[in-house]
Amino acid sequence: MEIQRPRGTVDLLPGEVEVWQALESTVRDVLDKANYGEIRTPIFEHTELFERGVGETTDIVSKEMYTFLDRGNRSVTLRPEGTAGAVRAFVENKLYGTGALAKLYYIGPMFRYEKPQKGRLRQFHQYGAEVLGSELPAVDAEVIALSLAVLERLGLQNLTVELNSVGCSVCRPVHRAQMIERLLPHRDELCRDCQVRLEKNPLRLFDCKNESCQAVLREANVPYIVDVLCDECKDHFEQVQGYLRAMDVPFEIAKNLVRGLDYYTRTAWEITTPGFSTIAGGGRYNGLVEELGGPSTPGIGFAGGIERAIAVLASQNVQIGRTVGLDAFVAVADRGAEHTAMAVLKSLRRLGLRADRDYQGRSLKSQLKLADRLQARFVIMIGESELASGKATVKQLATGVQREIPFAELADAIERGGSEW
Ligand code: HAM
Repeated sequence: MEIQRPRGTVDLLPGEVEVWQALESTVRDVLDKANYGEIRTPIFEHTELFERGVGETTDIVSKEMYTFLDRGNRSVTLRPEGTAGAVRAFVENKLYGTGALAKLYYIGPMFRYEKPQKGRLRQFHQYGAEVLGSELPAVDAEVIALSLAVLERLGLQNLTVELNSVGCSVCRPVHRAQMIERLLPHRDELCRDCQVRLEKNPLRLFDCKNESCQAVLREANVPYIVDVLCDECKDHFEQVQGYLRAMDVPFEIAKNLVRGLDYYTRTAWEITTPGFSTIAGGGRYNGLVEELGGPSTPGIGFAGGIERAIAVLASQNVQIGRTVGLDAFVAVADRGAEHTAMAVLKSLRRLGLRADRDYQGRSLKSQLKLADRLQARFVIMIGESELASGKATVKQLATGVQREIPFAELADAIERGGSEW
């Protein structure tokens, strides 16, 4: 029996990986220019981190974690998201010590035991950023703008920033009580999941995909959280919008946007495009650092799904990260030229040129075919006559122009690109 990869995972092969690399370097560039530094945290963490950080009532923690006992009988979990680990590292490494804002970003695999389907994998990849240490609404605007900028820089179109505020520890309990009061009489009309949500985290009812549950919410006249914010949250939310307008970042208010993780306070947003699952999402989390044992520190961040962004890129025919062939292909015309060919290959690569040769004993004719297929700009032919004259035969494939170049000058000539030919 052939062993296959686990369900919900993918192999990324050469040819596809270049797209990933291009996306990753765009992420790095956009965030580096905004003065964010990369953080790399473990792929697995103590299970308790996510239970406390992401929240026990969330789908992620209650149904989707890859949790297991290690050989020392400790419960560990493959990270389902990046925020909890980044915040843990912030606390553990006392990044708050300098008093400066911590602006962090990460790129890497995340794991959720979900039903695999389009845009939903069990091992998927996120890029994300977190800012710890400021509750000023300008920071919210910066992070929202950056979450959009990454996707725009990739060349994506038709993106919408859906924005909401989910309140704080002052207004959320009031809203929660209202929800429970108005919905309890209709409990039986709600789906099973929503009956549990009503008990544990009523706000999540707004996220239910069942039209019948949404109808119950409407009929029971349940207010949206954003309509019953406390004065401070309201003011904060208005200021965030003011900054976004000043920065020309388009957004739409989405009153039913509540996000699937428990740590959010105030600002929450998602970036969507028609026909695809949410590409990126984020929000403010002013209680998380403290929840994870650090000093009270406000935070905000976002994460985008790399597979999802790439799927949208493909659907919009945006090409990024194509490989561009070889600078040079070294063709060996006679066995006696083998050593010289290897030395030439090495010198080309040392100069930073992309160079390759045949290692399958092809005839000269099929080596030239291979050079063509690999889109080499130059073929360097080396055989007995070249060894005797001390000059390689170099052919520029685009023009067919051929020259004899002394071995010592070869790498330089290729590097200059033969523009003077
Ligand atoms: P999230 O909304 O759970 O937020 O995930 C962010 C993004 O990861 C999603 O918008 C989606 O693109 C991608 N994603 C999530 N699950 C899957 C999956 N099963 N398959 C493929 N892609 C997926 C978070 O994870 C938060 N930590 C974001 C954040 C950072 N909030 C504050 N800071």
